[in-house]
Amino acid sequence: MKRLSDAVGTIVKVGAKVTRFKVGERVTSHLYSKWIDGAPAPNEPDFCFGAPLPGGLAEYMIIHEESAVLAPETLNDEEASTLPIAALTAWYSLVTYGNLQPGETVVIQGTGGVSIFGIQIAHALGARVIVTTSSDEKGQRARELGADEIINYVKTPDWAKEVQRLTNGKGADQLLEVVGGEGLNDSVEATKVTGQIAVIGFLAGQSTHLDLMRVIFKQTKIQGIAVGNRTAFEEMNKAFDRYTIKPVIDTVYSFEQAVEAYKHLGRGAFGKIVIKIS
Ligand SMILES: NC(=O)c1ccc[n+]([C@@H]2O[C@H](COP(=O)([O-])OP(=O)(O)OC[C@H]3O[C@@H](n4cnc5c(N)ncnc54)[C@H](OP(=O)(O)O)[C@@H]3O)[C@@H](O)[C@H]2O)c1
Repeated sequence: MKRLSDAVGTIVKVGAKVTRFKVGERVTSHLYSKWIDGAPAPNEPDFCFGAPLPGGLAEYMIIHEESAVLAPETLNDEEASTLPIAALTAWYSLVTYGNLQPGETVVIQGTGGVSIFGIQIAHALGARVIVTTSSDEKGQRARELGADEIINYVKTPDWAKEVQRLTNGKGADQLLEVVGGEGLNDSVEATKVTGQIAVIGFLAGQSTHLDLMRVIFKQTKIQGIAVGNRTAFEEMNKAFDRYTIKPVIDTVYSFEQAVEAYKHLGRGAFGKIVIKIS
């Protein structure tokens, strides 16, 4: 059983020297529990909640004050619990690295957990959002969350060409790459000269044969992403309050139904799966 990295809770007790929080405040976990700001240290993965550190599938967590982040006021517990990985990954890509500006165009691959947050954040910040998906029905739901254009990548395998068409041959300013594999070449084609590809996932394969000539000519920025630091998390939470961004939740399970929740995750969902501990 995995031990869950994403968690929210209300503080019931603080240590004598704690200054960041007080009893009664609501905080979330921060995956890279020691990565506060700037570039990550080489050993950040050694201090991740859920693995190898204990995670949030528990009634109580004992965590260092530096590893907790104040939850957005406008979100309930279920909503706030979804933020630490998927939302921060999208934010860190688009805003911290990408410095997303209103009017820019963003391509979001698929409608998975990271991608849905990507749609919501990019839309809230005034970007034009193009989503690729295998399902017209999910495409419609993506539209309701702020997507401007939908490309069904099953019906339109050359989706990069379609992105070029939709952007009058310029290409997108940014792209969230969750697919990886050989498709990275399509992402280079779909982004503009000096565009940013945030390499987040590799659902289609962990390695790729990349046409370096295209990357060189287009001066593409290929940016690896590992979730994000705490400073970015805190900035993101303020933005969720400011723009009233509401995380999409597919289903809330009880603690007793935790195994069902994992099975649901395995089947796929539209939005996050939450386990609520009463
Ligand atoms: N680097 C990081 O910090 C970081 C953080 C979080 C997650 N990740 C990784 O990022 C990836 C996505 O995570 P997630 O939680 O969002 O996954 P998820 O919820 O399982 O996303 C699955 C979705 O990906 C889409 N997809 C699959 N193949 C596609 C293709 N060829 N083209 C376009 N979309 C495709 C599908 O969307 P449709 O159903 O709409 O077609 C599918 O529903 C995973 O590999 C995960 O491990 C990395």
